[in-house]
Amino acid sequence: MILLTGATGKTGSETAKALIAKGVKARALVRSAEKAAALQAAGIELVIGDVTDRESVRKALAGVTRLFLLMPNSQHQLELEKQVVDLAKAAGVRHVVKMSSMEAVADAASPIPQAHWAAEEYIRASGLAWTMIKPNFFMQNLLGSAKSIKEKQSFALPMGEGRTAMADARDIGAVAAEALSGAGHEGQGYEITGPELLSFHQVAERFSTVLGTKVSYIPVDPGAYHEILKKVLTNEWHANAVSALFREIAEGESPQVTDTFKRLMGRDPISLERFIRDHIGAFR
Ligand SMILES: NC(=O)c1ccc[n+]([C@@H]2O[C@H](COP(=O)([O-])OP(=O)(O)OC[C@H]3O[C@@H](n4cnc5c(N)ncnc54)[C@H](OP(=O)(O)O)[C@@H]3O)[C@@H](O)[C@H]2O)c1
Repeated sequence: MILLTGATGKTGSETAKALIAKGVKARALVRSAEKAAALQAAGIELVIGDVTDRESVRKALAGVTRLFLLMPNSQHQLELEKQVVDLAKAAGVRHVVKMSSMEAVADAASPIPQAHWAAEEYIRASGLAWTMIKPNFFMQNLLGSAKSIKEKQSFALPMGEGRTAMADARDIGAVAAEALSGAGHEGQGYEITGPELLSFHQVAERFSTVLGTKVSYIPVDPGAYHEILKKVLTNEWHANAVSALFREIAEGESPQVTDTFKRLMGRDPISLERFIRDHIGAFR
């Protein structure tokens, strides 16, 4: 049995859908049965519980051999991931597929990639088989700017002239599902990007082309954006951590295009144009 955490989220739900499409049985540990109703209807077994609660995790892990470990970002992320890995090992799990990030490297300078790297190291030292899913910035993050694009034909972000090879969560879920159900993925780190390295001005051009109306990217001062983030993300640690990540993109430290998706899945990754078309109602 495969256990998924984070199955109601952006990439976890795509991982679940990809497993269902492959006819692979899986279980999800979810907080809300209501939110997971579609997953259940599609054939995913549910255990209702909280990933912070050891008893919920133990219950969900019964009979599980492969675990998809996806934890939202918080100052407790590393400690929670270690706790779940320990419980998984004790329950007889053999392979952990961890949602990490492409920025998670040994000398990562900002808190989220640092936590991912430390969790990766913990898993690598655990004796369990592992696969690290290391995506770039998600295209789905752009849905956070959908209202502004729809109403003002512009979006404001603090990325300056920085570029990113953003990836669609559907592709990331497809790779995670392959790592969970296919063979030969042990000991691999999969750096997943979309097909193009784009500045946010170029992202705006893609929106203009697909929407048929001029859309502009407004680079905002990182300090001013941080004040906005503090209002959206009530947790100060999270606001600081996201600001630090965005600063890295603005400073041009974002990685290059990889061929990982095509190599593993045998098809091209989803383009930004297709992502926009597939969410056209949100943007127009
Ligand atoms: N966004 C990016 O550009 C990006 C890029 C690279 C890597 N990442 C990494 O991707 C991860 C986030 O993935 P995502 O965006 O797909 O997630 P997401 O959409 O934020 O969803 C988070 C998931 O975790 C679940 N969850 C949260 N707290 C829980 C708890 N206490 N018990 C049980 N479940 C809980 C949520 O359940 P509910 O539905 O109940 O809330 C939801 O299913 C992070 O580790 C991040 O660092 C993100």
